[in-house]
Amino acid sequence: ARVVVLLSGGGSNLAALLAAAEEPAYGVQVVGVGADRPGTGGAAMAQERDIPTFVEVVKDHASREAWDAALTDQVAAHAPDLVVSAGFLKLVGATFLARFEGRYLNTHNSLLPAFPGMRAPADALVHGVKVAGATLFVVDAGVDAGPIVAQVAVPVLDDDDVETLTERIKVAERAQLVDAVGRLAREGWTVDGRHVRFGA
Ligand code: GRF
Repeated sequence: ARVVVLLSGGGSNLAALLAAAEEPAYGVQVVGVGADRPGTGGAAMAQERDIPTFVEVVKDHASREAWDAALTDQVAAHAPDLVVSAGFLKLVGATFLARFEGRYLNTHNSLLPAFPGMRAPADALVHGVKVAGATLFVVDAGVDAGPIVAQVAVPVLDDDDVETLTERIKVAERAQLVDAVGRLAREGWTVDGRHVRFGA
């Protein structure tokens, strides 16, 4: 399956996908990497491997809608079967969602529906939960709200701070992303209301 990855930062999730994709039996080809800002570690990683990259900065466009349309075109140019947001810190708009409906996935660092938003590990610590984790889901018009593909739990330890919990979540999150994206690519999937099942 052809996969485009969107990111805003370091790209440790991209690195994990690229490592897995070196094995042809994994079934994933990362055909493009897009960012919402120049100079991301993820884009550098892609360029080293001759994977095409693109950048669409919101402020370079007359409106959020124009940015969304440009991003949609950039992604569509790579004809992806699947688009994966891995630390992409922008909400896409209606044009993008319509074009990639059911094929745009995001990984979030909480057990949704708990703790949507940008500070999920910190919110989990403040709340005092004993279990945290990560959720891979199909993006819809809500924020961190779409149908869930996979979830993984990690313990919250008594001496955790935001950094240690964030890192424990990320380790489990990367493994889950690699596993689930591979299965989606090899087996296909169906989205039925809030329910995602592997298998075409
Ligand atoms: C992930 O933990 C994701 O849930 C959060 O940002 C992180 C992305 O990390 N929103 P990276 O850029 O893939 O290293």
